[in-house]
Formats: sequence, C-alpha cells, structure tokens
Amino acid sequence: MIFYFTATGNSLYVAKQLDEKRFSIPQELNKTNRHYKDDRIGIVCPLFEFDIPDLVKKFIRGSEFETDYFYIVITYGCHDGAVADRVQKNLKYDGKQAQYITSIKMVDNALLVFDMKKEKEIEHTKKIEEKLAIIKDDIINKKHMIQEALKEESEFSEGYFAQKAVNGPMYAFPLYDVKENCVGCGTCAKVCPMGCIHLENGKPIHDYTNCANCMACIQHCPTKALQFASAMKEVNSKERYRHSEISLAEIIQANNQI
Ligand SMILES: Cc1cc2nc3c(=O)[nH]c(=O)nc-3n(C[C@H](O)[C@H](O)[C@H](O)COP(=O)(O)O)c2cc1C
Repeated sequence: MIFYFTATGNSLYVAKQLDEKRFSIPQELNKTNRHYKDDRIGIVCPLFEFDIPDLVKKFIRGSEFETDYFYIVITYGCHDGAVADRVQKNLKYDGKQAQYITSIKMVDNALLVFDMKKEKEIEHTKKIEEKLAIIKDDIINKKHMIQEALKEESEFSEGYFAQKAVNGPMYAFPLYDVKENCVGCGTCAKVCPMGCIHLENGKPIHDYTNCANCMACIQHCPTKALQFASAMKEVNSKERYRHSEISLAEIIQANNQI
C-alpha cells in the first residue's frame, strides 16, 4: 500500500506508478485508528522548504506501519536540500525507520518563485520517467537505500534556513486575495487538504490557522480569481500548474474535506 499527499498532482502521479492500493494522507488523517499492515508500505509527498510537509509528518508520527519494507519518495522541483537524511533523522526521533528514502525532481510548483509556463517547458529536461523507472525497480526489489546527502545540497538548505531565521518566513498571511472574476465554484475549498476554505455569499473565505501552504487553492482556481495578496509578487500570475496526467477530480477526491 502507498500513502500520498499532493497539491498539484506530481506526488499522485508517482504514487500511481508505484502501487495500485493508494490512500490519500489528508483523508487518512481523519481516521483515529491508523494501523497499517502490508508487504510494502510507501509514502509519496512533495518537498516543502527542504522537508516533508507537516501534515505528512503528523500522519507518520500518529500511524503504525507493520511491514518489513517502509519507503518514502519525495517529489521536488529544483533543490532537495539533502532531504532524505533529514527525514531519516526525524523518523529515528519518532522511533521509526525506513528502508528506502529517495527524491525525484519534477515540475517545481512554487508559484512565488517560479514561472509555471517556464517550469512546464523544462519538464522534459528532468528525465522524470527514467528516474521513476529506477525507483519502481528498487521498490519491487525491496532495495535498502537512504539517498546520499550531497554536500552542496546540505549547504544549500542550511543557507536557506539561516536566511529564514534572519529574514522570517517567505510567505506572509493572508496569502491570497479573491478577485472580481471569482465565480463561486468552490473548487478552492474542495482541493484544500486542510479544510481551511468555506464559501460565504458565493466567495471563498480562508481560515489560515491550519493552512498547509500547499497552494492547491490558487493552483486549481479555474478562473485564476485567487491571486497572491498584494504584498507578494508572483512571477507569472497568468499561469498555473497541474500535472498533465492528473485530473482536477483526482485532486478533489484526494484532498476534499467538505
Ligand atoms: C510551499 C512550497 C515549498 C516548496 N519547497 C520546495 C523546496 O524546498 N525545494 C524544491 O525543490 N521544491 C520545492 N517545492 C516544489 C514542490 O516540492 C514540487 O513541485 C512537488 O513536486 C509538488 O508536488 P505535488 O504536485 O504532489 O504537490 C515547494 C512547493 C511549495 C508549494
């Protein structure tokens, strides 16, 4: 069995290649008893600021995995910041252990930093299918491997964390503005894995208390009526991203908390 969290489909796409028995982490988090048993148990999720998202950490910490092969695959866009090493250390802290942890570079969906149009154009340079085939093979063969922490990647993430400690977080709340062209379809609310959005008079209202900062709401708005709040400048406000093989219905099914 495989557990996944996805905002824009990259991690779901990977999960679909690795196992047919798929479970959404935001949905599983609603269950109180989380004891899982299988021959192989996997987790696939995006990288958020050089670590796995808090909701994935919460899921792992509060679940029991009865298996002799526990693996984690992290999708990222440009720098993984030696995440495998970080995740392994955090697992140990929780009294857990993975036999295999790796990362795979895909389209970077970090809207504030990257132009989604350009990111889609360079997708082919990332050789995703080749890397995915290797990961698939490793998992079938139950390979034991924690991806090596490259010096430059460790330094990159350490530099980022040091800068963050001085300058504060990159994202300021409230994150989003709702523009005039909002049609009140509620897609933003349906794709939110944390149930942070509700409609009032046909317009979305964000409660940022539990916001995972995953940006699913802004990415999937069909009229692009959700924009970053004016304090933050995004690179290309006209372009959004969803993995080409993943439908909006699949994202809603994975994340919907309404
Ligand atoms: C809030 C946020 C933080 C991110 N941080 C990183 C990062 O530190 N390094 C990186 O290479 N990609 C980063 N990304 C890009 C995603 O990890 C990447 O696009 C991922 O494949 C998205 O997966 P999904 O489509 O399943 O949501 C970030 C994206 C978001 C939204």
